[in-house]
Amino acid sequence: MVFTPSRSLITGASAGIGTALARRLAERGSDLVLVARREDRLRDLASELQSAYAVTCEVVALDLSGDRPGATLRARVEGDVDLVVNNAGIAAQGSFIDADAADLDRVIAVDMAALVDVCHAFLPNMAARRSGTILNVSSTTAFQPVPTLLCTRRRKPSC
Ligand SMILES: NC(=O)c1ccc[n+]([C@@H]2O[C@H](COP(=O)([O-])OP(=O)(O)OC[C@H]3O[C@@H](n4cnc5c(N)ncnc54)[C@H](OP(=O)(O)O)[C@@H]3O)[C@@H](O)[C@H]2O)c1
Repeated sequence: MVFTPSRSLITGASAGIGTALARRLAERGSDLVLVARREDRLRDLASELQSAYAVTCEVVALDLSGDRPGATLRARVEGDVDLVVNNAGIAAQGSFIDADAADLDRVIAVDMAALVDVCHAFLPNMAARRSGTILNVSSTTAFQPVPTLLCTRRRKPSC
């Protein structure tokens, strides 16, 4: 059986795995809510998927490292979603001792706090409807202590 949600919200949809998931879900006919900071990339993806698969795509440009990102997202998304994909994440290598404290805060905010807050914001409606799915994208590195794998990637200008 193939799971096909009618409307899916994907964080980190502007690149990588999030973009790939958005394409696969649109291909199956799911409407989408695309979330990330780079609005231009989200809008390009929304246009592409709306044309190719006749789905509707809502774009929400949001920095998930901000205060209460889940509540902010819930307030900005119109209507219900039946799949939430917590995919946005940041990671990189470096020395913990030399790491910038603000970078460490950002990793915790995006990779952990935002995920919890988004679940907390979207689960009540799903529970009330007794239907809905949350997919939390993690990494095997979450279970492996890897020296120097710790801190936010400084995005190259070309990325
Ligand atoms: N690629 C791998 O090999 C791999 C392996 C294991 C697990 N994962 C996990 O899979 C997920 C996606 O990885 P990926 O490789 O596809 O990453 P990626 O290509 O670097 O994309 C990361 C996504 O997260 C978004 N993002 C980052 N910071 C954000 C913020 N503050 N607010 C909102 N959105 C933010 C980025 O969008 P903007 O920059 O536009 O905001 C982008 O859409 C991550 O959780 C990662 O840990 C990846």
